[in-house]
Amino acid sequence: MKAWIIADQFGIEHLQQVDRPTPVPGPGEVLVKIQAVSLNYRDLLMIAGQYSPKLPRPRIPGSDGSGEVLAIGPGVTRFKTGDRVTGTFFQHWIGGPVSEENTKGALGGPDLDGVMAQEMLFREEGLIPTPGYLSDEEGATLPCAAATAWNALAGNNLKAGETVLLQGTGGVSLFALRIAKIFGAIPIIISSSDEKLERAKTLGAVAGLNYRTTPDWDKWARKMTDGRGVDHVVEVGGAGTLEKSAKATRVGGHIALIGVLAGGTGANPMPILMKSLNLRGIFVGSREMFTNMLRAFEHHQEKPVIDKVFGFDEFPAALRHMESGSHFGKVVVSLK
Ligand SMILES: NC(=O)c1ccc[n+]([C@@H]2O[C@H](COP(=O)([O-])OP(=O)(O)OC[C@H]3O[C@@H](n4cnc5c(N)ncnc54)[C@H](OP(=O)(O)O)[C@@H]3O)[C@@H](O)[C@H]2O)c1
Repeated sequence: MKAWIIADQFGIEHLQQVDRPTPVPGPGEVLVKIQAVSLNYRDLLMIAGQYSPKLPRPRIPGSDGSGEVLAIGPGVTRFKTGDRVTGTFFQHWIGGPVSEENTKGALGGPDLDGVMAQEMLFREEGLIPTPGYLSDEEGATLPCAAATAWNALAGNNLKAGETVLLQGTGGVSLFALRIAKIFGAIPIIISSSDEKLERAKTLGAVAGLNYRTTPDWDKWARKMTDGRGVDHVVEVGGAGTLEKSAKATRVGGHIALIGVLAGGTGANPMPILMKSLNLRGIFVGSREMFTNMLRAFEHHQEKPVIDKVFGFDEFPAALRHMESGSHFGKVVVSLK
């Protein structure tokens, strides 16, 4: 079987495709034929050596994959051959609160190989059934970005009628937009592109602002809420946007701290403390959160937004496409 690896050197240009023997499932293990993989910004950081400079190599990248069970090892009870399955981001975080132990074992990171391979072994607890109404490509979009968006909003007790500020139109933000709609909340969104803002409105965003042409989006967000400030921010920008996010948020509101897209270092803590904001770091989520989310998605027949599907040999091109920031929603690699 073929796999992509991060070899000695970091960088998209140094990724290598290799042949590996088909793995044999041991006790409690499931062999999966990977049919689709979705990309996350984390994959770009991992491959660039910026996420984990001491990443053990060779390492197969990719955290989000869906496929079909080819074989099961002794003692496996949750799956059988032919089942359609999707891997969980953290292979050991089944439920309960986040802990050091739970957040070891993320796919395609420092602890474990990832899913950018034609065949892959999982522990049976690290898989969920792919919802029947979703294709493999759609299922593969969910484990990191959608579970993170769910944790950020459902985990911050989002209520109907609350306003949610979203940043950009990447994977996490568009899932958060749709989750806000499921909850009866009011999503507003900023983007680098007027065209993307129009598309976001077709997904349910009630207002949009171009942060390139109007950089003081914090003032806009307050104006959109009659001066009060938004109830929730899904903060994917990080240090470079945090101060504006805090200014955009109402007293006692929530900021789910997720990403690092805007770069920058340091952030002024004053608006955070003077507004008594609830700032919570998010690290994807547990299998329990993932399956709770899937129940809501299935009920609403919620479909992910897929920007473009690439072939297995086009993995580097798919990464370059994501790196360009021109995408809207999820970038997927099909292994079919
Ligand atoms: N903590 C966690 O567990 C976790 C989980 C998932 C992701 N993340 C992080 O969350 C971030 C988003 O991940 P993703 O996979 O959704 O990324 P993505 O799909 O690559 O999203 C990129 C998009 O974000 C927007 N963007 C870029 N810079 C921005 C800025 N300064 N202000 C506002 N929007 C900006 C752009 O959209 P427009 O062109 O529309 O502006 C860009 O196309 C990344 O930093 C990732 O590492 C963290």
